Amino acid sequence: MARTSAIPRSAPQTAQMVGPLRGPIVPSPASSGSTPVVSGSMTVEEHPNGVRTRPATEADRARCFELIERLTGESPTDRWPEVFSSHLRGERGAVVVAENDDGILGCATVSYNMAIRYGGEYCELEELIVDESARGLNLGRILVQRTLDDAKRRGCAEMGLYLVPTTEGNRGFYAKLGFEVLGTEMRQIFD
Ligand SMILES: CC(C)(COP(=O)(O)OP(=O)(O)OC[C@H]1O[C@@H](n2cnc3c(N)ncnc32)[C@H](O)[C@@H]1OP(=O)(O)O)[C@@H](O)C(=O)NCCC(=O)NCCS
Repeated sequence: MARTSAIPRSAPQTAQMVGPLRGPIVPSPASSGSTPVVSGSMTVEEHPNGVRTRPATEADRARCFELIERLTGESPTDRWPEVFSSHLRGERGAVVVAENDDGILGCATVSYNMAIRYGGEYCELEELIVDESARGLNLGRILVQRTLDDAKRRGCAEMGLYLVPTTEGNRGFYAKLGFEVLGTEMRQIFD
């Protein structure tokens, strides 16, 4: 069964430096290793080394766009803010950020899709990027785990993603996070 999601069309570009991280942010074996802290309507989860994950806010828009631009090689259009805001309202997607006191280190976005066969929603991992300076420290895993946890809480039946030649190198990363190959993707791109 086909699964769709937006994937970078070009290789990630040079990253902006963020504050130093002292070592891997290691999740506990039982979970993503996070401590949920509910702040208003926003659930902040705290991870080792002062890292937090939380739903994005409008104040994060420029930084998220910067990361997504780096991921996709696409420049933001005047439609991006509309979609971002809709995701913040949880209408058809979500944006999660990972940050420390120095700023946002990475972000993950998902789209929620409705299918009769599920009698409800499933979701797609759409955009995932960790700042170059913070890679290899478990942030990618933490971001994906957070999106998985949020999707389960929302009642989604499953999460999918697809890889293209420029992201094929991430197959092992997703395999470590529990994703399995299921079917093949066919696609028709509208200009
Ligand atoms: C892919 C990406 C999100 C991974 O984030 P990260 O924070 O560097 O990865 P993590 O440190 O969380 O890695 C978790 C585990 O996956 C492994 N891993 C990471 N990238 C991997 C890869 N490309 N292939 C195989 N394993 C990988 C790590 O070694 C680690 O394994 P371990 O638990 O055995 O030590 C990050 O490299 C990135 O932003 N890349 C550029 C953008 C991109 O390609 N996004 C994904 C589009 S599909």
